[in-house]
Amino acid sequence: MTEGGRAGQRGRLQSTGFRTKGNPMNDDVLLSISDLSVEYDVDPPVQAVQHVSLELHRGEVLGLAGESGCGKTTLAYAVQRLLKPPAVITSGITILHDTDGDVLINDLNADQMRAFRWDKASMVFQGAMNALNPVSNIGKQLADVFTTHRPGMNKADIRKECCELLDIVGVGADRIRSFPHELSGGMRQRVMIAMALALKPTLMIMDEPTTALDVLVQREILTQITELRHKFGFSVIFITHDLPLLLEISDRIAIMRHGRIIETDTARNIYFHPQQDYTKRLLSSFPSLTGDRSEFSYGTAGLDNDNLDSKGGSANERTA
Ligand SMILES: Nc1ncnc2c1ncn2[C@@H]1O[C@H](COP(=O)(O)OP(=O)(O)OP(=O)(O)O)[C@@H](O)[C@H]1O
Ligand SMILES: [Mg+2]
Repeated sequence: MTEGGRAGQRGRLQSTGFRTKGNPMNDDVLLSISDLSVEYDVDPPVQAVQHVSLELHRGEVLGLAGESGCGKTTLAYAVQRLLKPPAVITSGITILHDTDGDVLINDLNADQMRAFRWDKASMVFQGAMNALNPVSNIGKQLADVFTTHRPGMNKADIRKECCELLDIVGVGADRIRSFPHELSGGMRQRVMIAMALALKPTLMIMDEPTTALDVLVQREILTQITELRHKFGFSVIFITHDLPLLLEISDRIAIMRHGRIIETDTARNIYFHPQQDYTKRLLSSFPSLTGDRSEFSYGTAGLDNDNLDSKGGSANERTA
């Protein structure tokens, strides 16, 4: 998106008058991605991310949607500087506007990046629930995050934090000695989310964190995350190809196609007034989660429903 485009986006956000519950969606930008491009240097080269510019506001859930292979994971990895050869960042800068100053993520050295990654920005990876170490109990794995990043913390405090985290994500502190294989997929996924929350980062990137779970568990976990971001005040980039899910949990949604962001708007506008044909196709290619679009509860996490007229939930407005 160009500077002008970003200004336009801001204008749109302000003009909607929508507010996130408890977290005003405003121009308080946490993360700026400008002109980011990533190429996989293979033969022939793959331009996986092309000139992407995006802003994430403080306290916001930004959904990133697009079909498989459009570059979502590559973009997330580029922000977290997790890309490995043959991936090359060919352009762009990413800045985290932290409360104690801007962090130019491109310029961090390896040590700074390691500290930054869990402390300021954490990530729940695609297929994360299989990423736990099978031979170590979950309490130990959670504790490792603290012993690595908070070397001054004593054992009792670490244990207390771990118990609290397990309670927060709904696994329960009594499972602290459980091994991954003793937990359900949903519980393992929650443990991964607990790890990502552990150091109270300002940014969480979640890459298809719940796709392997059934719809009810997915929604429960996602509702919990949107509640937690109010409690902890973090911002989320939530990646999935599941646009209906994003409509329910996101404040704004960016649509990605062939490495480019082709449309960014509020969840409401993406649903009712999609600008791009591709977005329209993406919307119509999914069945409604409720089975009836007219009762579709889009934006429950992010939008102030007081701002929506009661008839506004009808799909007719969108398809008219
Ligand atoms: N190591 C690699 N070498 C070459 N090409 C790659 C590599 N990793 C990814 N790609 C290509 O980069 C493009 C973007 O891939 P990416 O994994 O970012 O997509 P995605 O949107 O996350 O897809 P999905 O929804 O399936 O997870 C794809 O064309 C993919 O084939
Ligand atoms: Mg991916």
